[in-house]
Amino acid sequence: MAEMEFSRHRRLRQNAAMRSLVRETFVRSEDLIYPIFIAAGENVRNEIHSMPGIYQLSLDHLLGEVKEAVELGIQSFILFGVPYEHDKDACGSGAFSHDGLIQQGIRLVKEQYPEVLVIADTCLCEYTDHGHCGIVKDGEILNDESLEYLVKTAVSQAEAGADIIAPSNMMDGFVTAIRAGLNEAGYQHIPIMSYAVKYASAFYGPFRDAANGAPQFGDRKTYQMDPANRLEAMREAQSDVQEGADFLIVKPAMAYMDIIRDVKNEFNLPIVAYNVSGEYSMIKAAAINGWINEKEIVMESMVGLKRAGADIIITYFAKDIARWLKEQ
Ligand code: PBG
Repeated sequence: MAEMEFSRHRRLRQNAAMRSLVRETFVRSEDLIYPIFIAAGENVRNEIHSMPGIYQLSLDHLLGEVKEAVELGIQSFILFGVPYEHDKDACGSGAFSHDGLIQQGIRLVKEQYPEVLVIADTCLCEYTDHGHCGIVKDGEILNDESLEYLVKTAVSQAEAGADIIAPSNMMDGFVTAIRAGLNEAGYQHIPIMSYAVKYASAFYGPFRDAANGAPQFGDRKTYQMDPANRLEAMREAQSDVQEGADFLIVKPAMAYMDIIRDVKNEFNLPIVAYNVSGEYSMIKAAAINGWINEKEIVMESMVGLKRAGADIIITYFAKDIARWLKEQ
């Protein structure tokens, strides 16, 4: 019988060694950033009900958590603060106080683990009594007035020893303002990991439980982006690049893989995907019910994000992934 003509793709899939020889994309524990929620008080270790396995930890529990992650191979952390309600005010002064939760957390971690990277999330929403990411007047979130407070926050985080500043507030001009503020204070060497492309997303729901940071009125749609928009993402990223960002974050991740790819193709900075709280909770819930294989679903999701163009992934699964990679 004459040989028929068609492609034999299965030649390269016939056994494990062949498959690993031709594998294109990898997830490494060095690619991961692990978020930690630092709570006010002492001996606090509250599991977040919508994020099983993730805790609000007081400062006395922080180093234990970092140690566990470092031993698994994680080298980068992003810190969020969960202050007492009665410590919140209109301008979020807890965000830039010398003894703020993040500032204390950064000092603790850097003292004990000088070699790890501590990233500071720079935003006001966890510290304002109205829960918005900027200054509010007559029900409006003011742009330029907010920048001053964000700069103070970034500088205080750099002073405490943060290795990277990650502004997540979505005010226009935050990269320009924070870059200038950091330079003026002598922190020219501290990179800015900008939440350049951040959508107004329902996937942040569990985070708002975790950080008690839900807006007390309205929503974030006048500053975070419309999920329907793709070209706008390019404009957001473009301006952050021009303003001097060193990394570009796309957030959320899983429902925005087209945006990750677009940003990766267009800009030559390291691209970070934020695999947000709701994405974590959905997988956890299904896994707890025994409906999916957690490890395989998580690893497939992570390799998908890297394939989409993410160089770095911020994920609540970081410790699990590092453990699974070690076991391999
Ligand atoms: C603060 C901030 C949020 C997240 C990270 N930084 C919440 C928000 O913008 O409402 C969400 C992270 C997550 O859902 O995991 N601005």
